[in-house]
Amino acid sequence: MSERVIPLIDQRLVSVAARIPSVTTAPTGLLGDALGRPLRDLRISVTDRCNFRCSYCMPKDIFDKDYPYLPHSSLLSFEEITRVARQFVAHGVQKIRLTGGEPLLRKHLEILIEQLAALRTTEGRPLDITLTTNGSLLARKAAALKAAGLQRVTVSLDGLDDTIFRAMNDVDFPVADVLEGIAAAQAAGLGPIKVNMVVKRGTNDHEILPMARHFKGTGIVLRFIEYMDVGATNGWRMDEVLPSAEVVQRIHSELPLVQLDAAAPGETAERWGYADGSGEIGVISSVTQAFCSDCNRARLSTEGQLYLCLFASQGHDLRHLIRGSATDEQLAGAIAAIWQGRSDRYSELRASLPPDAGTGARRVEMSYIGG
Ligand code: GTP
Ligand code: 5AD
Ligand code: SF4
Ligand code: SF4
Repeated sequence: MSERVIPLIDQRLVSVAARIPSVTTAPTGLLGDALGRPLRDLRISVTDRCNFRCSYCMPKDIFDKDYPYLPHSSLLSFEEITRVARQFVAHGVQKIRLTGGEPLLRKHLEILIEQLAALRTTEGRPLDITLTTNGSLLARKAAALKAAGLQRVTVSLDGLDDTIFRAMNDVDFPVADVLEGIAAAQAAGLGPIKVNMVVKRGTNDHEILPMARHFKGTGIVLRFIEYMDVGATNGWRMDEVLPSAEVVQRIHSELPLVQLDAAAPGETAERWGYADGSGEIGVISSVTQAFCSDCNRARLSTEGQLYLCLFASQGHDLRHLIRGSATDEQLAGAIAAIWQGRSDRYSELRASLPPDAGTGARRVEMSYIGG
């Protein structure tokens, strides 16, 4: 067994039971954490499985046929997810992102989307409901997702070169099928569509310009993500991170760019527009320019654990409350108490740590809590 193999099942079990506070008050939509950050974005993982094996996320040697995925009885049902999501919305959540693993592997996902689409923000507006997908099943499902109330999708795509793409997904999946999925999403009106490319220096960085050229002028927003040290299994190394500043420079040298203002507070991406007005790109720089100071994202795992940071090593178990006798107000009170105690800001702290600190740490996997 290599040194970086860690019994993942143990990590998932590291959780604290969410507790109902002795006094609960009705949610006001104005919940803040210990650093004053509001709760606006809820990411819900609907499965811990995926049909791809991207080495930066679910390396094949660990996520093999013996990997202990969650049993069906552990998963929150759609009704349970919607009930807990309603409490988050009452606390101020305005955007819900469905993630996985690969969320389109969860059967009848449209039913969940219909239920979530019926929720309203504290100001009475519909939520921004979106989904992160690898695109492999999108051609088949785009129209049904739209009909259920999904507004937009974000598709992960790490390159256009078929050989590189097949190697990166590590299941020999052809790039043409993902491009077909993106086209189907566009035709179904699931926009604005975003395409996320994780950049690994020496693996796919030569795909930056071909990707930029391909999506320029299509209305699709291409975003370049710095390869992160998330989870504990991907063997992350700083020398494989290509800083976003270099991504921008490389594109700018051929396709001139101008910096744009952020669209909303707490956004992950810095926006750049093509100087000729033919669209925009984004860069997500969690390694070289952390954006924790206004992080408003909460993550709910497939089995109902609340994570306060992508790099958390511990979840807060809400499922026992959801499946117990807690009332909605008590559930909301438990969520409030957890969020109020939140001081996580891993990416900011990482910047002040030695380069290899944290490598191999016991952290939750991204395939378990979603991007
Ligand atoms: P939009 O609402 O469409 O702008 O989505 P988003 O950028 O909020 O979410 P998305 O899931 O597309 O995020 C893109 C990538 O940014 C993820 O896959 C992660 O790699 C990274 N990311 C997202 N949220 C966080 C976060 O809270 N912390 C860190 N460090 N990285 C994040
Ligand atoms: N670094 C950066 N992004 C990652 N993702 C998964 N693992 C990593 C990582 N190590 C993100 C990618 C992918 C989404 C599902 O999760 O954006 O598109
Ligand atoms: Fe699957 Fe996305 Fe992880 Fe790749 S990055 S293994 S597509 S969940
Ligand atoms: Fe938020 Fe944690 Fe990401 Fe910082 S590292 S932006 S606190 S999820």
